[in-house]
Order: sequence, then structure tokens, then C-alpha cells
Amino acid sequence: MTPKSPIRPAIRDLEPSGITKVTALGLGHPDVLPLWFGETDLATPPFIRQAAIDALESGKTFYTNARGILPLREAIAAFHKRTSGADIGVERITIPGAAMLAVVTALQMVCETGDNIVIVSPIWPNIFQAAKVVGAEPRLVRLDEDWDKGRWRLDLDKLFDACDGRTKAMFIASPGNPTGWMLTAEEQKRILDFTRERGIAIIADEVYGTLIYDGGSHAPSFLSIADDEDAVFAINSFSKPWAMTGWRIGWLVHPKSVEPAAAAMAQCNNTGATHFLQYGALAALSPQGDAFRGELLDRCRHGRDVVEGWIRKQNRVRWFRPEGAFYGFLHVDGLKDSLGFCQSMVRDDKVGIAPGWAFSLGDPRDDSYVRICFAQDSGRMEQALERLEGAIRKL
Ligand SMILES: Cc1ncc(COP(=O)(O)O)c(C=O)c1O
Repeated sequence: MTPKSPIRPAIRDLEPSGITKVTALGLGHPDVLPLWFGETDLATPPFIRQAAIDALESGKTFYTNARGILPLREAIAAFHKRTSGADIGVERITIPGAAMLAVVTALQMVCETGDNIVIVSPIWPNIFQAAKVVGAEPRLVRLDEDWDKGRWRLDLDKLFDACDGRTKAMFIASPGNPTGWMLTAEEQKRILDFTRERGIAIIADEVYGTLIYDGGSHAPSFLSIADDEDAVFAINSFSKPWAMTGWRIGWLVHPKSVEPAAAAMAQCNNTGATHFLQYGALAALSPQGDAFRGELLDRCRHGRDVVEGWIRKQNRVRWFRPEGAFYGFLHVDGLKDSLGFCQSMVRDDKVGIAPGWAFSLGDPRDDSYVRICFAQDSGRMEQALERLEGAIRKL
């Protein structure tokens, strides 16, 4: 007799994401040009690496406050003030490890089995799994394509109609991955009013908040309009703006009175982020780190221009030029099976891109899209785009 599985069904039934189903075919293969993950090809800048090395060598190897060292939380508060004007006290900041863990922590705090979480899609697929892990149903509200106006559009009525008595949170990433779409300050205000009235939390994923192309130092942020006690959980990360994806360090801004719960969650999830790495993160928040963010943004802007130039020469590829983040979400006329297409791109064309299908739990409308990350060396990107063009011709 087969023994009964000790794993609870919500975990047993988790599926690998559509991106994993593609990367499984060639991750780390030297011949594959990798544009599938959300990261730049630049390594973390030396001054950040050195700060972590110095901290390690000076013996910063002990347990710390599980919510993060105070100087780092103070520097994060100053970062919010200088980029978005938001006044965030250190008591609202917890550094649980990666932004991924910040998302899970927020969900653990607000959702119970049987609840649902309303998610604006297409979206970074890890959120689907995170919702299922806490027993919540991910309920998707898809952005609409407005080809006439050349942009993605969020229908707020659709968003509000998707909420019911079991909705505990809305998850909105702005700027969005994979679309690069951004919420306006006015839309944020309407969403905040709605959630206040209905007692729903907002999980505002702002990890691309400073990666914006049309000026300004930060995309509209829920933190600029929310009070200390609004149920806003803002997710942020060192991964993207400072090229630190492998460090696994990000932060969560939560309501002030949630402090004891955040401390308890930090304690039981991992008892805090790695001690010496927090000093590297602290260096990232220095003026030198601000300068690096500017350089990375220039690299991304150039990458976006390369993709745009390529699209102009295509007759089957369209996009909405992203306002933020570093992805091209490309609509390919005639594409119906994005997963199969991306898998064949790895096998036959040696290019790693992500299937649109992955970003909305298999919504057929997204099966005509593929995502590429353009925070990359432009020569390598041009090579990858040339191969993509060849593969599209064969479709
Ligand atoms: C929208 C969004 N949120 C969160 C994350 C996770 O960031 P981290 O690497 O800090 O876990 C990603 C990574 O791709 C993302 O795209």
C-alpha cells in the first residue's frame, strides 16, 4: 500500500511556474542567451560587495534583530523620503530577507484558508504560488489592452467587482512585471478609498518603483497617500535597482500597529536576513548607490530603445512601450502556444525567454505574448532578437 502523503494538498498540488518549465531546458547552458529572468547581466557593484565583505571580516556573523539592523531600517526610511516623499517610521519597516519572503509574510499575516486575493494580471507568477501556499484563492483581474491609446489599462470597476466577503487583499505590482504598466496616483487614491471602506489590505509590490523612464524619482506609491494605520503592505527589494538578485534581501513596509505581528513573523520565518549582507544593502542606499541606480536605469532605457527599434522592423510583433521595470512583453500575431514556443526557442534557437501564458495562470489572451528582460548587454540582446525574429517567421 502506498503510504498517505504527509504533504497538505495545497502544497502537493503546486505546479512549477511557466518560466521554470522553460528554464528547466537550458538554465546555465553556455550557448543559451538568457533573457528569461528579471535581472540585469551586471554583477552587484564593487562598493556594495566590499561593504558586505568588510562586515563579514569584522565579525558581523551573529544573530541580529530579526526585523533587520537599525541603521539599515533608518536608511530605508530615508530612501522612501528622498524618492517618493513618503514619511515612514522605522517601526513600519521589516527586512525579512528577499522581497519574495516579504510577499509571503504579508500574505501569512492577512490571509487564511478559504480567503481570496485579487491580483492584477498579467503578473510575476510567484504570487500565484504564494497565495496558494497560505490557502488563498488567487483571483485574477486582467489589464486590458488599449491598442488605440497604446497602453495597458486597469478597469477599476472590474477590480472592485472581483472582491467579495472573502477577499482579504489586493495584490498590485506597479510598475508591473511583465507589462511595465503603472498605476496613476489618482487610481491609487480610488483603490485606497475602496479598500478602506471594505476592510481589504493592499499588497503594493513596488520593487520596480524607481525604475521608471519618464522622469521623476519614483512611480506613484501607495506609501505617499496611505496613513500609518492603513492596511497597506508595500514590498520593496534590493534585487532590481542595485543588481542584487542573488543576495535575497528586500523589505516590507507595514502599518505601524502591525509591528508585533511583523516581529513574530520575522522570528518564525527565518529569524532575520543574513547579518553581514545587511551592510552591503546599507551601502546600496548611499549616494554612490543612488548613482548606480541612475546608471542601471540608463542601461535599461538603452535596452528598451533596442527592443523598440527591433519591433519597428517587425510586422507581427507589437508592444506597449513600458513606462517602468525592465521587460518587453511582446505580442506576437499568430502565436497561440507561448510555452511550446519558448521551449522550442531554448532547444532550437538557444535563446531563453518567458512565455506569456505564465503570467496569468493560463489565460489564453496571454498565450500570444512572450517576455524578454532588456536590462542586458545590447549586443547580446540584438543577437537574441535576431534569433527570435527567425523563430517567429517559422510560426
Ligand atoms: C513584481 C516582483 N515582485 C517581487 C519580486 C521578487 O524580488 P526578490 O528577488 O527580492 O525576491 C520580483 C522578481 O522578479 C518581481 O518581479
